Amino acid sequence: MDKFLIRGGAPLAGEVQTSGAKNSALPVLAASLLSSEPVTLRRIPQVRDIGTMQKLLRYNGATVDVDDSGTVRVHAATIANPEAPYEIVKTMRASSLVLGPLVARTGRARVSMPGGCAIGARPINLHVNALESLGARIHQEHGYVEARADNGLKGGKIKFDRITVTGTEDLLMAAVLAEGETVIDNAAREPEVVDVANLLTQMGAKIEGAGTSTITVQGVSSLKGADHTIIPDRIEAGTFLIAGAITGGDVRINGCNPEHLMATIDLMRQAGSLIETGEDWMHVRKNGQLRSVDMTTVEYPGFATDLQAQFLALMTQAEGISLIEETIFENRFMHVPELGRMGAKIRIEGRRAIVAGASKLSGAPVTCSDLRASASLILAALVAEGESLVDRVYHVDRGYENLEQKLAGLGASITRVA
Ligand code: EPZ
Repeated sequence: MDKFLIRGGAPLAGEVQTSGAKNSALPVLAASLLSSEPVTLRRIPQVRDIGTMQKLLRYNGATVDVDDSGTVRVHAATIANPEAPYEIVKTMRASSLVLGPLVARTGRARVSMPGGCAIGARPINLHVNALESLGARIHQEHGYVEARADNGLKGGKIKFDRITVTGTEDLLMAAVLAEGETVIDNAAREPEVVDVANLLTQMGAKIEGAGTSTITVQGVSSLKGADHTIIPDRIEAGTFLIAGAITGGDVRINGCNPEHLMATIDLMRQAGSLIETGEDWMHVRKNGQLRSVDMTTVEYPGFATDLQAQFLALMTQAEGISLIEETIFENRFMHVPELGRMGAKIRIEGRRAIVAGASKLSGAPVTCSDLRASASLILAALVAEGESLVDRVYHVDRGYENLEQKLAGLGASITRVA
């Protein structure tokens, strides 16, 4: 099991290039199942979860060609296996993203229930209920969701009880081939949802309102191929923004979209970071002692839950008390006990973490539990005095492309040890 050996203390300096968004790549790859023509997708990050999704598409019967510049060409001329077997998807929660496309394209799907993970149970009841509103008959047993729509899906009205990102994407991909009009209410507004909608529109789908809480789809009978470049990864870019701030460095993040990170940028400015932004870049510099600010995670355009762990690490270096509230997932403070072992002063009370800073962190052996908690531990190790050994970095490899190379390029002392 790989580890990262990190020696803290060096302020990061230099420029880093943002990769394509993992949470766009996963749904757009699934969307390629909807057409019998080839779909070319560009800027696809080569991370573990994407590799798993590509393996799944091949199992479904698509050809998937990957070049080393992040371009993936998927051709699902026919779908031989409308199934997502446990063996393939057990490490990737996003298997539910093929449920909608497989039912829409073939009239049936058998998808292994996404197992829970460190951050929560990850149920897909909202996906299932919404698909039933479009006429699918759903049966769940033996850890699988089986969906049938022998006469095809019919448009309908869907109102999500709570906002779900992949639930919105899944239903969007089902509705585009459903007969008639579908209205999705209380839809997720994340940029990744808009990115999927843009690809589907290029494939010939008729979608209005993507990026707002109400999305209206007029079903079509078939979709053609497309050539689409996905959006930059706002969570990776936000992670590097925080890396520059926590080490008191001077970092420029290129190839990103600051518009997707306004809640994070605003809060970091309130905490005292000097952040300049342009069309496709952000520049963060130290500007005196960081001050504590409170933060609550909220669905987009609020502060992203996927940056909560990283921001919490930053608040350990800010003067004062910071109240961090996690409203999206039920168990997303796994990084806190590990940060405590490095000297951070944090108390958890239910959905809230109270961070007292600024505390001097010291390097320690720590263990990753999930993708974004891993990023938090790495950020803390970059500012801690001495060496840290970060274990189970396969969590990092699921969602960050070449993280150690990118950090080393900014002057971090980080090496991967087997
Ligand atoms: C997406 O997960 C992201 N993953 C997550 O990123 C992200 O944290 C999350 O959205 C929230 O922004 C991908 O896009 C692949 P949800 P998703 O459905 O869609 C509950 C990362 O680090 N819920 O918006 O699975 C759910 O338990 C990952 O890159 C139901 O109850 O999240 C959660 O509490 C982690 N029933 C809340 O809703 C359902 O059917 C929001 O979940 C679906 C969700």
